[in-house]
Amino acid sequence: MSHSRLAIDLDQEYQISKVQQDQRKLFVYWVDGHRSTFHYIWLRDNCYCSVCGDPKHGEKRFRIVDIPLDIEPLSVSWDSGNTLEILWEPDGHKSIYNTQWLRQHCYSTTEREHRQHRPILWDNQIVTSLPQISYEEVRTGNASRLQLLEHLRDYGICFVRNVLPQKGELESFAQSFGPLLETNYGRVFEIVVDPEESQKSVANSQINLIPHTDDAYQYAPPGIIFFHCLMANNDGSGQSTFVDGFQIAEVLRQEDREAFDLLCRYEVSFQKHYSDRIDMQFSSPVFCLDSGGHLKEVRISNLFPAPLDLPEAIVEPFYAAYRKLMQLYTDPRYFLKQGLQPGDLVMFDNHRVLHGRTAIGIQNQRRHLRYCSVDRDYFYSQRRLMEQNLSFQG
Ligand SMILES: [Fe+2]
Ligand SMILES: [Zn+2]
Repeated sequence: MSHSRLAIDLDQEYQISKVQQDQRKLFVYWVDGHRSTFHYIWLRDNCYCSVCGDPKHGEKRFRIVDIPLDIEPLSVSWDSGNTLEILWEPDGHKSIYNTQWLRQHCYSTTEREHRQHRPILWDNQIVTSLPQISYEEVRTGNASRLQLLEHLRDYGICFVRNVLPQKGELESFAQSFGPLLETNYGRVFEIVVDPEESQKSVANSQINLIPHTDDAYQYAPPGIIFFHCLMANNDGSGQSTFVDGFQIAEVLRQEDREAFDLLCRYEVSFQKHYSDRIDMQFSSPVFCLDSGGHLKEVRISNLFPAPLDLPEAIVEPFYAAYRKLMQLYTDPRYFLKQGLQPGDLVMFDNHRVLHGRTAIGIQNQRRHLRYCSVDRDYFYSQRRLMEQNLSFQG
């Protein structure tokens, strides 16, 4: 497709061919053939004139209780340019809508589906085409940084190579996305084999850790987690493992719909009790979906369970579903195993990707990872801003 053809298509998408008033809603016909339905209550609510709000900062002064639910226009007009204008009953309040904005917010089934982001699901085959990028590129090029953010959005994970294996590098990189989260282990956590510290966290032990999402016992578990490898074992032990929680969920949805539904509906309980300082508890379904059935997040951990608290009739079917779930996320078919080397850094979405570690040999206690995390919101925000900036520059 040539550039000029693309330009015509884009234009058509944002050009109105006619409008038709109906009871309580307006039909907008576009030059490309699409028809949008906008309810008058929705249109009035989305007026961003200086009286109703401030589009620049997304602030709203208009209150939905101040107009009737069945509000009607006095008049609707549009020109062949790019605006639609409505005067409202009863006071003649004037709203002006940009047609491109209207089309981009059209809530027809097809347009909503079209806007839905589709994650790229993965299994152990991802090892042949890892989402990865070099540190130097991310530090110096905006396009590379945007690519990293898109990998995180699409795969939930991205490897960054050649980050100097020394203290301080992790913090400065992570902080270029957003503030570091304060956790039970501080802002940066040193993951080394340490029998003393293993009282506090299993990460400091030598045992095999099956894949899990971190801090499931918290209302708001960490968002994006960073591991930076300073030292690795030389016998191949203590390798990092990752599992795509969205992939596991979709496999279960296909194979056993009843089990999937139980894990979406009923809550699993978690707790973390540590010395006399910490007693955290939280319950949540394993899978959280949006109203269209798309996955929003997973919470899977066998590390800090609390007794299940479910209706009697649900206990047995729930255990059956929970066992199927564990069989899936411990199945090597879905495992990405990576022996992180000094200078490797990995970032992953703790609300999607499970992580674990193979056991560490008795004689091999060199492995040293550093851990920190940043809220997801800063990544989404930075990606949106960078996408806008890069597209403005053409
Ligand atoms: Fe963990
Ligand atoms: Zn207004």
